[in-house]
Amino acid sequence: MSRPPLHDVAHLAYIELLTPEPEKSLWFFTEVLGLTANGGEGNSVYLRTWDDYERHTLKLTAHDTSGIRRTGLRAESAGALGARVRAIEAAGLGIGWKDGDPGIGPTYAFRDPDGHEIDLYWETEWYSPPTGDLRPALKNQAQAYPGRGVSVRRLDHVNYLARDVRPCGEFVADVLGGRVTEQIVLDDGTLSAQWLHFAQKSYDLVYTQDWTGSAGRLHHVAFSTDTREDILRAADICLDRGVFIETGPHKHAIQQTFFLYVYEPGGNRIELCNPVGRLVMAPDWRTITWTETERAKGQAWGLKTIESFHTHGTPPV
Ligand SMILES: [Fe+2]
Repeated sequence: MSRPPLHDVAHLAYIELLTPEPEKSLWFFTEVLGLTANGGEGNSVYLRTWDDYERHTLKLTAHDTSGIRRTGLRAESAGALGARVRAIEAAGLGIGWKDGDPGIGPTYAFRDPDGHEIDLYWETEWYSPPTGDLRPALKNQAQAYPGRGVSVRRLDHVNYLARDVRPCGEFVADVLGGRVTEQIVLDDGTLSAQWLHFAQKSYDLVYTQDWTGSAGRLHHVAFSTDTREDILRAADICLDRGVFIETGPHKHAIQQTFFLYVYEPGGNRIELCNPVGRLVMAPDWRTITWTETERAKGQAWGLKTIESFHTHGTPPV
């Protein structure tokens, strides 16, 4: 048994993704995934999923290589933000306060033990759709369903690669107030992956061991759809649009997420996922530990884990 999440971090909010193919990546996120562009500055374009109540979900930045530059987490309140900043500073991993990106208030930047940069903030500007096609019929929806490409609903999780999983998981649990829901422990005792959550969604951040021994890299980011069937349609859409499909559609054994993995044109691995109705409600949830033998059986319905899952990360090394 482990303690329930502190709920000082409310949810995963946004990511900044780097791409050496900015025009093609922008096409992928708007036309294939169905995100909506919402402004830009310098080498970056802001994009949003239709269910995001905040201004943006993805900051896509032209760069000489791929990878994730930062991850944004929204705090539960101003007080929760202050409490987490004190804990991060005590852990020695703070960078400092800065102005947030457009729509985001004062932001505290820090790094996890593997060097991934994370933003934590409370103040945010709620999205107000302009008139026209973006305006939803129902006032409890942020934006009209785009009906374009996969039309992903929201950002679901970020899966980092890390040189050493254990200190990263401990940091998210002990300092940010998350909780490990599932993990993989190899026969020699190596902790090779951990799934952590901040609320009742069963995972928000994931750490997987980086077999190259590099630090600060990305395994994938995941966007979720409303249904499992949307993932099957996504595979057809990606096939027709010439998007590289790495593996799936299939169902994960761990977390039971229905999935499809593709590479966006900049090389970053993108998961299209559907978590079905799964939530972790138990305050005394018992961490699920998967063994090496269990992992060797592959995914839920027997699909073997594809070799490139162990070799492809961004930026490439
Ligand atoms: Fe994932």
